Amino acid sequence: MKRMLEDKVALVTGAAGGIGRSSALLFAAEGAKVAVADRNAAGAEETVALIHEQGGDALALNVDVTNRTQVDTMVSKIVETYGRLDCAFNNAGITGGQIGQGGRFTADWDEEAFDNILNVNLKGTWLCMRAELKQMMAQGGGSILSTASLAGLCGFPTTTGYSASKHGVVGITKTAAMEYAPTVRLNALCPGYIDTDMLKDTMSRRGELILSQIPSGRLGSGNEMAEMACWLLSDRASYATGQAFTVDGGFMAG
Ligand SMILES: NC(=O)c1ccc[n+]([C@@H]2O[C@H](COP(=O)([O-])OP(=O)(O)OC[C@H]3O[C@@H](n4cnc5c(N)ncnc54)[C@H](O)[C@@H]3O)[C@@H](O)[C@H]2O)c1
Repeated sequence: MKRMLEDKVALVTGAAGGIGRSSALLFAAEGAKVAVADRNAAGAEETVALIHEQGGDALALNVDVTNRTQVDTMVSKIVETYGRLDCAFNNAGITGGQIGQGGRFTADWDEEAFDNILNVNLKGTWLCMRAELKQMMAQGGGSILSTASLAGLCGFPTTTGYSASKHGVVGITKTAAMEYAPTVRLNALCPGYIDTDMLKDTMSRRGELILSQIPSGRLGSGNEMAEMACWLLSDRASYATGQAFTVDGGFMAG
């Protein structure tokens, strides 16, 4: 049986660690040539080395997704190197805890932090989507997945800027899916609580409560997100577009 991303060219942003690294490794194992993009250049190189170790083909790109020129150059370099871009996973992101807003209610968020998180999570995703769509429309097809969150679907106290940015990711995904169908499919992935560096601050403040609310009784792994991402980006998901897909150990079932 053909591997899920055989002969595809894939991009993963935020691929220096966490969900992005797990996804880059799985996409390569499923046959894709993978562009590994992150603002953490050393981490991106490490991911590429891991892909090479498993016999795959990958390229590290040092990119800040908030910088339009860098984002456009990222897509140009992928096309220069591999000839096209079939699957793009816009996954780079930050949380409030990482910019000093952990535990703050809406009226207590700093204006600068609010702008910063919207800039990375929402504008950064849009800038990537914009460059990817231009390339995919020109080549006649492709699929795009962007990482939102459960906080992109409903309210979570203390996540104001994060929640705004992730609701925005779902919004631009649905809008672009309608605009670019049937040539390009666009979806959003809404992970539950996943065991990565990003979650450390949250778990240190209210880990016990969180675990008690997850029917599966544990955090999810980067690999478990990568599996869904891989399928959604593959041709096997050919009728899936314009949706936000939750993978959360049952958290939202209640
Ligand atoms: N971990 C969770 O529980 C969880 C839950 C829901 C959604 N998410 C989302 O999943 C995505 C991946 O997060 P993760 O948990 O793997 O965290 P992570 O911190 O391990 O990975 C995020 C990556 O994004 C990169 N990044 C941040 N800002 C960037 C920028 N401006 N340009 C380029 N790269 C940038 C970081 O360097 C890092 O490698 C994020 O969008 C996050 O919001 C995570």
